[in-house]
Amino acid sequence: KVKVFSDANGGFKLVLLGDSGVGKSCIVLRFVRGQFDPTSKVTVGASFLSQTIALQDSTTVKFEIWDTAGQERYAALAPLYYRGAAVAVVVYDLTSPESFTKAQYWVKNELNGVVLSEYTGIPESIIFNADWGEYRTWSKELQKHGSPDIVMALVGNKADLLDRREIPAEEGIEYAEKNGMFYIETSAKTADNINQLFEEIAKRLP
Ligand code: GTP
Ligand code: MG
Repeated sequence: KVKVFSDANGGFKLVLLGDSGVGKSCIVLRFVRGQFDPTSKVTVGASFLSQTIALQDSTTVKFEIWDTAGQERYAALAPLYYRGAAVAVVVYDLTSPESFTKAQYWVKNELNGVVLSEYTGIPESIIFNADWGEYRTWSKELQKHGSPDIVMALVGNKADLLDRREIPAEEGIEYAEKNGMFYIETSAKTADNINQLFEEIAKRLP
């Protein structure tokens, strides 16, 4: 069974959000290129990359990844990137309580309102469903099945810095569960759980 989903741009829109310095760009670089840059520069505006993964059941998922800038001065730009996203990945640095607070801000004040309500606003999206053997527009599917769940992940990054941890895993898990997200701890430095993050997302897509 081969199931391929794609929109008109060829993939699921995924946006990474979170405070500056939590490691969003490093997570993307690790996932897409298998590299780590200890001198990673702050992102200006946002950067775009795409990456396709094959799951064990031979499902192929292509992600259109929008890596946003976490610095406060770019906050006004973020809605441009998370609107219409199928996936929101909210990242914090598990050695930084401030970044955990900022992550909660993203989930509460931004994502729950806007991503969900704007999700239907992608009329150009097209799904090919091999089970039906046909293409359908995403909006038609939405009318038929209602809005599919937005996949939201809460990521505690820098898991390699165990002796500097400030946020216990339980706190992240509890917050994620309350807010319909799944929780995972990653290290862009050691690559720990980076592929798993994207695999878990892919499994949860409609
Ligand atoms: P903005 O672009 O400003 O929003 O920041 P960002 O979230 O993209 O942060 P970035 O990926 O540039 O990483 C910031 C710093 O954290 C860099 O010095 C990275 O080398 C470091 N870093 C990122 N991920 C990890 C990690 O998993 N472990 C450790 N130890 N350091 C990391
Ligand atoms: Mg960045």
